[in-house]
Amino acid sequence: GKGNYRHFMMKEIAEQPAVIGKTLQVFLDPNKRRIKLPAMPLDFAKLDRLTITACGTAYLAGFVAKYWFEQIARLPVEIDVASEFRYRNTPLPANGATLVISQSGETADTLAALRYAKAQGNEIVAILNVLESSIGREADIVLPILAGPEIGVASTKAFTAQLTVLAALVLAAAKARQVIDLRHEVELYNALVSLPGKVAEVLDNDDHLQKVAAEISKARTVLFLGRGSAYPLALEGALKLKEITYIHAEGYAAGEMKHGPIALIDGNVPVVILAPHDNLFEKTTSNLQEVHARGGRIILISDAEGIARAGHGATHALELPQVDPFVAPILYAVPLQLLAYYAAVAKGTDIDQPRNLAKSVTVE
Ligand code: F6R
Repeated sequence: GKGNYRHFMMKEIAEQPAVIGKTLQVFLDPNKRRIKLPAMPLDFAKLDRLTITACGTAYLAGFVAKYWFEQIARLPVEIDVASEFRYRNTPLPANGATLVISQSGETADTLAALRYAKAQGNEIVAILNVLESSIGREADIVLPILAGPEIGVASTKAFTAQLTVLAALVLAAAKARQVIDLRHEVELYNALVSLPGKVAEVLDNDDHLQKVAAEISKARTVLFLGRGSAYPLALEGALKLKEITYIHAEGYAAGEMKHGPIALIDGNVPVVILAPHDNLFEKTTSNLQEVHARGGRIILISDAEGIARAGHGATHALELPQVDPFVAPILYAVPLQLLAYYAAVAKGTDIDQPRNLAKSVTVE
């Protein structure tokens, strides 16, 4: 049941500290402060490239992981939505590996993409919530997320749990490829371990966020901007808002603004800027200034230091706890879910069963 919550979506958002913690336990070796993966016949050291394919929010988890695999494991990643990938007739490297991500394990396009990659001789790794599923049966290696049943149509805890498994996989890949030293590994390990507590802090301090969401609920269009691994998150923030509030929203790479979408900016378009304090922070805040100069209403999401440095141009600043940039995508997903949720509450839409959507898309 929904317990004390009005909607499954909010219940599932609130479960994330526990779900992330549980999912991490499988992959972390607390005695050695290192990553341990279940034994699996995939040799990351031998891979020249990894292919990732999925749909919707699961695809966006894979898109975040592309940044991680490339930067931390030095492993090039090709990623595409399954509905395109399956028909592109793309050549895959012989002895390559394809990673599919799916909450339900039943998404028709993701299953077809899996079959295509398998027919090309690829080893198939699947990150799944529902293990007894079509994708679960056809994959060579299954890595479970321990999210428990997800009832709300808009995916929340499955997304952050997928990211948690992907983060562990990236560290394992970095080790296998001998591109990470022990100090760095322990640093990233500690960042992961700190996550459940930091997510709980965000959930416990959402008063200001609820007010911002009420403002967003009145908009006709909302833009979400981010750079690096915050770019796929911008796409996820826009997707979540569209799904449950029916407000038009677009996610954009912050640097692409000036190539078109900046024409949309006026005082009526809220612009949510995701600016974790990472090596791209200055670049993102220069895009913030461009929006500010055109009279845009900016909602800046950053940490205390980021807000101190760039918050003056913002209409609202939502402060998150400081985290290692590696795990920022997992933490920054949470305020995006909450913004969509509270905007939908303000609009009075059917949050757990948005119109035209199904929890599992078994037709193409
Ligand atoms: C978004 C959402 C969908 C799913 C997509 C893939 O909130 O729920 O975009 O992520 O339909 O579904 P799975 O993960 O079951 O393959």
